[in-house]
Amino acid sequence: MTSIAVIGGGKIGEALIAGLIDGGVDPKDIHVTTRTEQRSGYLRDTYSVLPFAENALAVDGVDIVFLCVKPYDILKVVEEISRAIDHNDATTVVSMAAGITTNAIEDALAAGAPVIRAMPNTPMLVGKGMIALAPGRFVDAEQLERVVTLLQNTGGVRVVAEADMNAVTALSGSSPAYFFLMVEAMIDAGISLGLNREAAKDLCVNAIYGAAAMLTETGEEPAVLRANITSPGGSTIAAIREFEESGLRAAVYRATEACTKRAEELG
Ligand SMILES: NC(=O)c1ccc[n+]([C@@H]2O[C@H](COP(=O)([O-])OP(=O)(O)OC[C@H]3O[C@@H](n4cnc5c(N)ncnc54)[C@H](OP(=O)(O)O)[C@@H]3O)[C@@H](O)[C@H]2O)c1
Repeated sequence: MTSIAVIGGGKIGEALIAGLIDGGVDPKDIHVTTRTEQRSGYLRDTYSVLPFAENALAVDGVDIVFLCVKPYDILKVVEEISRAIDHNDATTVVSMAAGITTNAIEDALAAGAPVIRAMPNTPMLVGKGMIALAPGRFVDAEQLERVVTLLQNTGGVRVVAEADMNAVTALSGSSPAYFFLMVEAMIDAGISLGLNREAAKDLCVNAIYGAAAMLTETGEEPAVLRANITSPGGSTIAAIREFEESGLRAAVYRATEACTKRAEELG
């Protein structure tokens, strides 16, 4: 069994832990650290993982270390764990931090340390995540395969070039927030049309869930699926026309560009 340390059990750290356990990983093989005892206690009580008081102790002897702290905390944490990792050259370090390059982390670890940069998203919490991986210079095929196989417990996994990571942030790392915003707006729109909140939420959530399932299960292009429910002179095309005239597509281009640019700046 692969042993794991999750450094930073916040939103993404918890989503990773929940996804791994949901996929069959034994909680006893997962070490976790946070800044506060309260948060570590919550993770221990909820998932039966093993909390550690110090990062260096948590990584000692494990196969894979996931760095799930905020980007500005990453290098400080790497410094704390680098000596413990030096003594165990089998350990692969996977960083979830937006914008931080594999080079920056490699430079802070012992020479030749295998580092993978990852961009996850929060649906990992329910086993429906999407995670992109960019291997650094010193990662061999076997190390990459082990991380890919492990993360397949949490949802989809795609290996990408590191140069594409900021675009990946805009497309899958941040995009669940765009869809939540859309559903939020739809619920308010439903209330404006006279539905109660509970009914509006039920209708919208099931519609977006069903639409996502159609995309994944049929493999069909979204334009084709949309055309299939857009009859001539009908009610759906009246709504689509409003979206187009309100600049929905242009807003998507601008929003994803802004997200990519901000990810670059954070790095
Ligand atoms: N949230 C997303 O949707 C998302 C998507 C893609 C990538 N990411 C990346 O995931 C990373 C984590 O983001 P997040 O949203 O999960 O942040 P978060 O909820 O703030 O979690 C950060 C966690 O790190 C812990 N922490 C901070 N300093 C630490 C230290 N020195 N040692 C051990 N633990 C420490 C904090 O502990 P306490 O709880 O005790 O304060 C907290 O649990 C970021 O680098 C972000 O770029 C996030």
